[in-house]
Amino acid sequence: MTVPPHTPYARPRILLTGASGQLGWELWRALMPLGDVVCTAGPDQVTGGAEILDLSSAAATRDLVRRVAPDFIVNPAAYTRVDQAEDEISLARALNAVAPAVLAEEAARCGAMIVHYSTDYVFDGQASRPYSEHYPPSPLNVYGQTKLEGEQAVQSGGGPYLILRTSWLYGARGNNFLSTIMKLARRQSELRIVDDQTGAPTWARQVAEATAQILAQAAPLGRGWLEERAGVYHLTAAGSTTWFGFARAILGRAQSSAPLARLVPIPTVDFPTRASRPTYSVLDCTKAATVFRVALSPWEEQLDRVMEEVNQLTAVAD
Ligand SMILES: NC(=O)c1ccc[n+]([C@@H]2O[C@H](COP(=O)([O-])OP(=O)(O)OC[C@H]3O[C@@H](n4cnc5c(N)ncnc54)[C@H](OP(=O)(O)O)[C@@H]3O)[C@@H](O)[C@H]2O)c1
Repeated sequence: MTVPPHTPYARPRILLTGASGQLGWELWRALMPLGDVVCTAGPDQVTGGAEILDLSSAAATRDLVRRVAPDFIVNPAAYTRVDQAEDEISLARALNAVAPAVLAEEAARCGAMIVHYSTDYVFDGQASRPYSEHYPPSPLNVYGQTKLEGEQAVQSGGGPYLILRTSWLYGARGNNFLSTIMKLARRQSELRIVDDQTGAPTWARQVAEATAQILAQAAPLGRGWLEERAGVYHLTAAGSTTWFGFARAILGRAQSSAPLARLVPIPTVDFPTRASRPTYSVLDCTKAATVFRVALSPWEEQLDRVMEEVNQLTAVAD
């Protein structure tokens, strides 16, 4: 199917994977006003309104894409357990590399554009200033390696694509660093947090809203406009901090009736993990700001808004 360049489109059909995940859940809401969204969630989920799709099955994935015949495939689904990936290499590869390959192939076949998400962990962390999209990836762990393979598969799928690399995702909902810190800070008197890994904590909602903004810009201009801008883009909060700095900022904004843990900064060597992580993985987001005029706010401002939600939820739960 050939789409004439610069033909405006009305309500695109959007196939969204991973709607139960932290980014997928936000995308579901952000994309709904733009078109008809068909949501899918992983096989472990019973999510109201989402179809179950096991992305580790190429046949099921192909069937669904052919049935939905989307204009866009938006793919935040992934294997995201960074440490466990070291021991579950084939499952991580199936979800992070093979599934995107199948989606990209099917997207090209039905004339859809694929929007795929990747990670700062494709870099080895040896840089000392923010990574641009041109910098050669060199992942340190299985998660990063399989995500890089997924990027390469999407790039060679034969159709138009956007690969949006983000970092340190969190939100008021889901399992993430913020929810872990809030839970542990109530249970323990002291928390030792790594202070020599630097990145940009990024609110999943802002990545979802930026994605919707990019697709919305294309609506009056046509998919050809977007296809001419296909490529890899970095999309994170502005600024950077360490995990310790992030934890301190979280607890500094937390309202709690119970006393919260004291934080102690430690080096990575004192907190050995199964997977190695980059020391520095700040991404330079200039390209997305220039091409699509999307720039996410500073991480501290995002955190202010997320903690308002968290504090409200905690007040209700207390
Ligand atoms: N989390 C981060 O810090 C971070 C940082 C940088 C980039 N990213 C990237 O951003 C994207 C979104 O991450 P996230 O944190 O939102 O992930 P997440 O919360 O872990 O969600 C992952 C999603 O993938 C789905 N999934 C897992 N196995 C599946 C399967 N076999 N078939 C179908 N779906 C399956 C999950 O469904 P179930 O709920 O059924 O398991 C879930 O909806 C990913 O591409 C990730 O690599 C994440």
